[in-house]
Amino acid sequence: MSTLRDLAEEHTALRPADIDHLHRIAGDWQLLSDLSFADLLLWVPVDGDGTFLCVAQVRPTTAPTAYLDDQVGRIVGGAEVAHLEVAYRQGRIWREGDPVWYGDVPARHEAIPVRLRTGDGEAGEVIAVVGRDTNLSTARTPSQLELNYLTTADDLAQMIADGTFPPPRHPGETTSAPRVGDGLVRLDANGKVTYASPNAQSAYRRLGYASHLVGEDLAKLHRRLAGDPLEGTDAGNAVLAALRGEAPPRREIDARGATMLTRALPLMPAGVPIGALVLVRDITEVRRRDRALITKDATIREIHHRVKNNLQTVAALLRLQARRVSMPEARVALEESVRRVASIALVHETLSMSSDEAVEFDGIVDRVASAATEVAATEVSVGMRRRGTFGVLPAEIATSLVMVLNELLLNAVEHGFPPADEEAAVPPPVDAARPEVVVSAHRARKQLHVTVTDNGRGLPEQFDAERGGNLGLQIVRALVTGELRGTIELRNGADGGTEAAIVVPLARGTTDRLTGRAGPL
Ligand SMILES: Nc1ncnc2c1ncn2[C@@H]1O[C@H](COP(=O)(O)OP(=O)(O)O)[C@@H](O)[C@H]1O
Ligand SMILES: [Mg+2]
Repeated sequence: MSTLRDLAEEHTALRPADIDHLHRIAGDWQLLSDLSFADLLLWVPVDGDGTFLCVAQVRPTTAPTAYLDDQVGRIVGGAEVAHLEVAYRQGRIWREGDPVWYGDVPARHEAIPVRLRTGDGEAGEVIAVVGRDTNLSTARTPSQLELNYLTTADDLAQMIADGTFPPPRHPGETTSAPRVGDGLVRLDANGKVTYASPNAQSAYRRLGYASHLVGEDLAKLHRRLAGDPLEGTDAGNAVLAALRGEAPPRREIDARGATMLTRALPLMPAGVPIGALVLVRDITEVRRRDRALITKDATIREIHHRVKNNLQTVAALLRLQARRVSMPEARVALEESVRRVASIALVHETLSMSSDEAVEFDGIVDRVASAATEVAATEVSVGMRRRGTFGVLPAEIATSLVMVLNELLLNAVEHGFPPADEEAAVPPPVDAARPEVVVSAHRARKQLHVTVTDNGRGLPEQFDAERGGNLGLQIVRALVTGELRGTIELRNGADGGTEAAIVVPLARGTTDRLTGRAGPL
């Protein structure tokens, strides 16, 4: 389906600023449709040939539609659009026709010219026409509510013709809420309530206001009701601003455990401020759910914090035990376990500080890497470098990957650069490069590519790169092919040393939250 912009660009000579204004109308006209109990169609003149093109349509939520079929994209000329032509040429609201029939639905036609005000506030030219078409088949003597809605609708229709509706949008306000059905209050020029819909009355009641709203000074009432005086001042000032003809931002009022969202709109047909329209919505439940989500977040963070503490306790106990055993092999095994447990604790520590189940992984790698250098033989100093970035990883990938990297980094330091006496037969060449381990990471096609490279003595001869190794490499293979659903390859590096290459698929929808970009870097 074509968008308003596509249609207008294809068929008309409207300028970008005109099309922007039509977008603003389509963003806010549900209000007019609901107050009018009518369908609204946005018509633009097709260049030069006296026909009109429908670029947008909205149906009332308060009444039956006059059009069961979608009208967008229709191009119509002749008698059917004669009323649009009048509104367009003469720049006035047209409402003098007899009912027309769509199939077996009787409807009343009206046409409202759309003006775009110029930069200096002068009423500009007519750029389009809003057709207001009411399904008459259920029409009956209007109630008090309906009369009030219709009067207000006529004021807004005049403001569309003047170019003063819709009001400019405030940054960050994307929804058109609250809607007419949520609750509507009409004020006179002095700010006194002349009408309040039953839902509006109920919303104020929840804030603690028990009497009838009609006759109340609404700005004063907002100040009085709000639990927080600052909030009350804001909500009161919003009403006063609308009475002056300005369009204030939406405001919330909290009182007695209830929350109400308010939107005040100026009513100034023909440029004369005659009062304001205040739409209100009881959003207590929405806010309660927001708060529940925030507490849930905090709870999850607290749990990660406790898991981290518990893992650190386990690591400390193992360390104590390692100091007490005399068998060297047992001591080494216990010390390895300490490092494995500590590396998992690192992930939980990071998770306990973030607001979602994902971690910025580079910081974790750097900490594991610098811990690994500490196991180097006393006479060797191993340099550690990270190239590229891991970005933000989901918790489940991070926990497995940190263990894998821990093993690979320890191996590189331990086995790549063994203490000199083990190597006594072959003294290191004089011009040997400085011992170095490089971790590099990059993303491509929704996969994370990681390599751990050292410039040490390389894998032992006859080492089975597929299956060989002890517990460390077993853990690595099990995690990479199991939890991470990835692949690992161990090989001798191009210029000596050892290289471990891992490829891990990133779940669909994993975004790099650091750069805000989705998918491959
Ligand atoms: N980066 C490396 N450089 C040289 N040899 C390595 C390297 N990584 C692993 N190895 C070899 O693989 C063996 C198995 O490693 P691993 O399974 O981690 O057990 P461990 O580290 O306890 O010996 C090591 O003993 C070593 O011989
Ligand atoms: Mg090992």
